[in-house]
Amino acid sequence: MSEQNHKRKMEYRIHLKNFVETEPADMQKGIPAPPIEKSYPEGAKLIDLVNPKDFKIGENVKLVEAINNRQSRRFFTGEAISLEELSFLLWCTQGIKKILPNGVNSFRTVPSGGALHPFETYIAIFQVIGIEPGVYRYLPIEHKLLPIIQNKPDLIPIIKNLLHGQNLVNKAAVVYIWAARPARTEWKYGRDSLKDILLSAGHICQNLYLACEAIPAGTCAIVAYDQDGMDEFLGINGYDEISLYTAPVGKVRSDADKLEKKFRKVHDLFQNKKYNDCLIPLNEIVRYMPDNGEAWIFLGYCHLYLGQKEKAREVFEKALIIDPTDINCMYNLSCVLAALGNAEESIRWLKKAIEGNARYKDYAKDDEDFKNIRDSEEFKQLFN
Ligand SMILES: Cc1cc2nc3c(=O)[nH]c(=O)nc-3n(C[C@H](O)[C@H](O)[C@H](O)COP(=O)(O)O)c2cc1C
Repeated sequence: MSEQNHKRKMEYRIHLKNFVETEPADMQKGIPAPPIEKSYPEGAKLIDLVNPKDFKIGENVKLVEAINNRQSRRFFTGEAISLEELSFLLWCTQGIKKILPNGVNSFRTVPSGGALHPFETYIAIFQVIGIEPGVYRYLPIEHKLLPIIQNKPDLIPIIKNLLHGQNLVNKAAVVYIWAARPARTEWKYGRDSLKDILLSAGHICQNLYLACEAIPAGTCAIVAYDQDGMDEFLGINGYDEISLYTAPVGKVRSDADKLEKKFRKVHDLFQNKKYNDCLIPLNEIVRYMPDNGEAWIFLGYCHLYLGQKEKAREVFEKALIIDPTDINCMYNLSCVLAALGNAEESIRWLKKAIEGNARYKDYAKDDEDFKNIRDSEEFKQLFN
């Protein structure tokens, strides 16, 4: 590739650079800054959190231990966390210590360029003692929670699906979803703001990791999520406010490290196309943790790539009996059925997957797995 072509291909890396902003930003033009917290309806019933002055937790873990023990944790027990633990985690990630008299700059438990803090924190609560499951927004000025979405019995599968079926959601106590409101930073830094916002998000999540170690609990930073689906779910428009980063949090299983190691080994073998070597560890995992949809999907794909199509079908069918809400499994079963030439059943499952999440329609359009049935009228009709 010529130097010029290479340079053109890498143009998207501009987002890692500082702009040389020539346009005056709103601050220079004397335009008032956007509010540091998104408004909410007057009279909304807010939920009290434990005051940071009253925190009793987090005192027994030394900072050096928290830093040393920090790791991404993906295997949770499904236990609830307490209101104090939730309050502590929210305060550690966005808690306000001081707001300057100008009402624009706030000093928090995390740094942010220009002290402008361009984030809103949404928290999907599955298991917190004393709080109804639902989605809430943290109000850092009040240190309270604002209910956003309530009475959703299928909240866990919805969030899991938005996080591309990642299994750690199943047994999490809460899931953080941070959304950026770029205008807060743009007010001072104009188009330089992008880098500033992304770097600030990293600080927030790192505090969450360390705060979790102190409780103790565990978390894992997640960027693999459905952008449009998440924005729509939160009721934000995706340009004035954009979901950016997520992190499930839960109490950590005592065998989590062993499981993490086993999964890592399977990932390596799978990546190196050693599908036969994956079968024993994957069968062990699904026997031990039958609700682990990701392991079932890996197992199904190993059989498929080994040419054992009927076995692959059996695996996905079994996974769907255990978790009938797993849309990823529905899609993969439909792929296997297509490979088996069973167009009718394949399309039935594909339709179910698309009903659950429209993005599977985009996947199916170019997915090689459907090559056997791509020319059938029923398949074509899905895209008309
Ligand atoms: C920006 C970012 C995005 C990440 N996205 C995911 C993700 O979508 N799924 C996941 O399982 N882990 C995700 N991780 C966790 C990384 O896989 C993890 O940090 C890495 O493997 C190193 O392991 P450690 O955190 O235990 O040191 C993400 C981490 C970061 C910082």
